[in-house]
Amino acid sequence: MIDIHSHILHNLDDGPRTMEQSLELALMAVHEGVSTIIATPHHRNGSYMNAADSIIEAASLFQEQLIKNHIPLTVYHGQEIRVYPQMIDDYEGNSLLTLHGSSYMLIEFPPSKLPERIDEIFYELSLLHITPIIAHPERNREIADQPDKLFRLVEQGALSQITSHSINGLFGPSVQSLSLELCRRNLVHFLASDVHDAIHRPFHLQQAYRTVENLLGGDYVKYYQQNAERLIRHTEIERWKPIAKTRKGFPLNIISRIFSL
Ligand SMILES: [Fe+2]
Repeated sequence: MIDIHSHILHNLDDGPRTMEQSLELALMAVHEGVSTIIATPHHRNGSYMNAADSIIEAASLFQEQLIKNHIPLTVYHGQEIRVYPQMIDDYEGNSLLTLHGSSYMLIEFPPSKLPERIDEIFYELSLLHITPIIAHPERNREIADQPDKLFRLVEQGALSQITSHSINGLFGPSVQSLSLELCRRNLVHFLASDVHDAIHRPFHLQQAYRTVENLLGGDYVKYYQQNAERLIRHTEIERWKPIAKTRKGFPLNIISRIFSL
């Protein structure tokens, strides 16, 4: 498995504090079947600043330690960027990172609302040939209240990533059912751990794929896993057509199944 969103590098954000803790997480990853992981420290989220250079250096030191400790995990660098007004300038000034040097950038929204000028910022990113991947949209209040806002962003070209804990129900039943709804409406393109530590926010990625298989079917598992592989190989991400809602609120694919349309 490939995990595209993780806080596995130590002493950069609210992830592990020491290299030993990072290595412990790496062992957990391998135990779950993760072979490749993208380290995505927080950047500009109000608490942490981690510009590109510091992450590249930390990821490279961590990879050396993984090899030295015979842990079969490949780590690539990335960044989880909270949307902010000057981000286009900063990208051009080389302080922002895409995921593993691809054309896909992991973008975090604030927990309550959609960021101001988000359409404009995404449009400006598209002019730079960057596609945003919205990290855990299921944890944004405005999207939770109005999932059509995510539908609109995906229709405009954005991608999204659901977190394993959300799918597994560990953030509560309403977050889980919203996550499943977003998946069914094809508004989700990746599943990732967003791991922070071994106790409160471990991987549980294998379990999340099992949950998806049981509740949504094997095609979704394949879709998310192949998209993670495409990302690593720098090939284009597959996008299933986003599904609009009917007036009564049911996704059209459910209606079709009920009436065998
Ligand atoms: Fe994260």
